Amino acid sequence: MTDSVQEHENAPESAHILARIAEVLKENPENGLETVREAFEAECERAQKALREHAQDFDSLKEVRLGFFGDKGSLSLANRQMRDLENQHKGPVGKLLGKARAALTEAIETRTAELEAEREARILAEEAVDVTAATARHSLGGRHPVALMQEKLTDIFVGMGWEVADGPELESEWYNFDALNIKPDHPAREMQDTFYVEPKETHLLLRTHTSPVQMRSMLTRELPLYIVCPGQVYRTDELDATHTPVFHQIEGLAVDKGLTMADLKGTLEYMARAMFGEDAKIRLRPNFFPFTEPSAELDLWHPHAKGGPQWIEWGGCGMVHPNVLRAAGIDPNVYSGFAFGMGIERTLMFRNNVLDMHDMIEGDIRFSEQFGMEI
Ligand code: PHE
Repeated sequence: MTDSVQEHENAPESAHILARIAEVLKENPENGLETVREAFEAECERAQKALREHAQDFDSLKEVRLGFFGDKGSLSLANRQMRDLENQHKGPVGKLLGKARAALTEAIETRTAELEAEREARILAEEAVDVTAATARHSLGGRHPVALMQEKLTDIFVGMGWEVADGPELESEWYNFDALNIKPDHPAREMQDTFYVEPKETHLLLRTHTSPVQMRSMLTRELPLYIVCPGQVYRTDELDATHTPVFHQIEGLAVDKGLTMADLKGTLEYMARAMFGEDAKIRLRPNFFPFTEPSAELDLWHPHAKGGPQWIEWGGCGMVHPNVLRAAGIDPNVYSGFAFGMGIERTLMFRNNVLDMHDMIEGDIRFSEQFGMEI
């Protein structure tokens, strides 16, 4: 049993003594007990030193512990000596052993607690989340506010069961003007400065408004008809803070039996409230468009305008002219209709306080990002 410690050449003298207490006491009846006591103390000190210097993690701590309490550890070997001791020595040696065991157990527990605290601190540091750090996530970005506004306006009508209609931006003169009761020599053609497409004989142009979709819809769809058409239009305007040669309109057209101006007004009022809140109002002022009769300018009472509540010119509207219905093969004595159109950029300007048209067409992503994905 004593062999195991003696096998270790490096084992200190104190360990060798504890492995053969019985013999030591026999060999030296006078001072043997003192030698054993010193050996216990030396082992305790050795243990403290090992814990300080070698037990840097849980694995090395375990090694240190087994060096004293393991099968071949000095304290275990001392313990096994107990039954071989003479009765008179059992008490004193037992006391020394108990004291050493208690001291070592406590030292190991202390070191274990220290290592656990270190481990926790390390995990906290490693797993800490810096909430101020920039994330690697892609930003949501922003869609162009004109597109958002176009969808928002369209959705109001889709919600009422209206359909969305479409038409080409490269349009024939006939749909853009003639079909809308705008005669070739009519000054109204001059109202909308037009980009014509060469050669002239093709009679093609870039549509100056979304109204040509009125005729296209009447010719291709069943009655009754309730459509909105958002889209891009072109006029030979110089770009400035309030004009751009390319902009967007949304057109509305309803053709049914018995439609009156009351229906037009009610529809526009609903749209105004949906866009500008319950306090919004509309006002119709007499105006002229060749394709509507009567025609009106649509004014909006904007309750939340930046400069305070005010009337703002929003668009044009009216009852579909009988000539237009006739051109579409619809009997104006049976059916009536109303139509309206307004600028989308313009709506964005006073609804969302965009001051300069340049911002809307320059394509600077920082402008779009302010609006995000919903307007
Ligand atoms: N198309 C007209 C414009 O661009 C607006 C309008 C649409 C007027 C429908 C009446 C009816 O000015």
